[in-house]
Amino acid sequence: MSFRKHVEKRLLKKERTYETEQLMKEKRSEEYEALEEVFDRSTLMIIYDFMNKGVIDEIHGVVSAGKESRVYWAKNAEGKELAVKIYLTVSAEFRKGILKYIEGDDRFKNVRRDTRSLIFAWAQKEFRNLQQATAARVRVPRPIAVRNNVVVMEFIGKDGANAPSMKELPPKNPEKTYNILMMNLERLYRKAELVHGDLSEYNVMIYRGCPVLFDLSQAVPTSHPMAAYLLRRDLENLNKFFSRLGVNVHSVDESYRRITEHGNT
Ligand SMILES: Nc1ncnc2c1ncn2[C@@H]1O[C@H](COP(=O)(O)OP(=O)(O)O)[C@@H](O)[C@H]1O
Ligand SMILES: [Mg+2]
Repeated sequence: MSFRKHVEKRLLKKERTYETEQLMKEKRSEEYEALEEVFDRSTLMIIYDFMNKGVIDEIHGVVSAGKESRVYWAKNAEGKELAVKIYLTVSAEFRKGILKYIEGDDRFKNVRRDTRSLIFAWAQKEFRNLQQATAARVRVPRPIAVRNNVVVMEFIGKDGANAPSMKELPPKNPEKTYNILMMNLERLYRKAELVHGDLSEYNVMIYRGCPVLFDLSQAVPTSHPMAAYLLRRDLENLNKFFSRLGVNVHSVDESYRRITEHGNT
């Protein structure tokens, strides 16, 4: 069945605007057929809405298909490359996993506990974290838009090829990369008042020679009860990775102190 027919069947007539129909006619492609197989109607509507508003012009292939989310490569009308991260409706296990990061986060005090609300909060949380990190001049993908379970951000890479993670391509200058990362963690903590919480070589890309932190959905405010534990764990992961590359890393205690204590030396 063609994309258009499928969508026509699924959308209520009253919600079908002229623009949406034109858009669907124009943008019909294999990618869209793939999209509609994976996503429910409300997710598709959000994507069409982003298209109508000009946030997204075209969606191309899948960059990553995880258990809980999918990342697509897209472009806006100016040809700027975008990453569209879409959270899927989730398992009880994932729900339980994210709950402990949302509880204790003052920004999400009033979020309802049903699965749908939690997923929307999760996407919102990633977006807000990217905004706070960007404002603190921490290098992360620039946030562009968010609605329900869909986050649109800057694409880190070129022509649809995302930049490699540190895991895939260890940095050429590990010492320099380590120092830049430590500076980023300090800014993230002090200025953005956030702890990444899932930092490792898997969630840092090297783009144009510089590390870019990403996957910030689980990042928590420094006031969160787990913040200290998570920061230490992040530092342990980075220490393991960089000492294997021969960097003379600071101990976790020392890095922790430097990052969290004001007026450090
Ligand atoms: N902004 C982005 N630009 C380019 N590629 C991205 C971007 N965000 C994510 N990716 C790619 O998608 C993969 C999964 O994204 P991530 O945010 O780590 O989600 P999760 O680990 O929760 O599945 C990443 O490893 C990376 O390859
Ligand atoms: Mg990840």
